[in-house]
Amino acid sequence: MVSSGESAPGPEPVRAGAGVVGVGTDLVDIDRFRRVLARTPRVAERVFTDGERAYAGSARDPVPRLAARFAAKEAALKALGVGLGGARFAEIEVERRAGGEPALLVRGAAARRARERGVDRFLVTLSHTDHLAQATVIAVAGGDGAPPTPDGDRAP
Ligand SMILES: CC(C)(COP(=O)(O)OP(=O)(O)OC[C@H]1O[C@@H](n2cnc3c(N)ncnc32)[C@H](O)[C@@H]1OP(=O)(O)O)[C@@H](O)C(=O)NCCC(=O)NCCS
Repeated sequence: MVSSGESAPGPEPVRAGAGVVGVGTDLVDIDRFRRVLARTPRVAERVFTDGERAYAGSARDPVPRLAARFAAKEAALKALGVGLGGARFAEIEVERRAGGEPALLVRGAAARRARERGVDRFLVTLSHTDHLAQATVIAVAGGDGAPPTPDGDRAP
């Protein structure tokens, strides 16, 4: 299976029962997000994984990358059809693949919700400027009857 962000040699084969289950997008105002992080630094620890903070921290200004990842978490909740209380933000993680492209991983309540909806992978794309960060997430049912991922609690 080709998971989010992995490069493939050509178009992915279409499998019976495969399809888009949900789509979500979110736009974050960087200045506003910067003020939230400055006012309440613990927000960053609560919302982002260690890997997300480390990657964002390697940029001259980490806030646009963090804002884009926050947008991806909100977009994923929309794609899963749940509201803000539907999962913890830290359960939804944006990983960076070797080519720089993002991939979305979910754990915990977010992974359970994904499984309930038949979602076994996500597509995610990010964009950010100094002012705005944007993410779009598409939740996909593979239709291949794939078993739950190894720890039983994580849907890539
Ligand atoms: C992908 C690329 C064009 C985006 O550049 P940009 O318009 O300056 O930046 P944006 O803000 O719109 O997008 C940045 C996000 O794109 C994503 N991204 C990076 N490389 C990517 C890739 N190869 N494929 C998909 N998404 C990618 C990342 O999530 C990045 O966010 P991050 O910096 O917080 O990790 C640029 O990073 C690039 O040229 N990468 C290398 C070449 C490449 O593989 N291009 C593929 C398209 S032709």
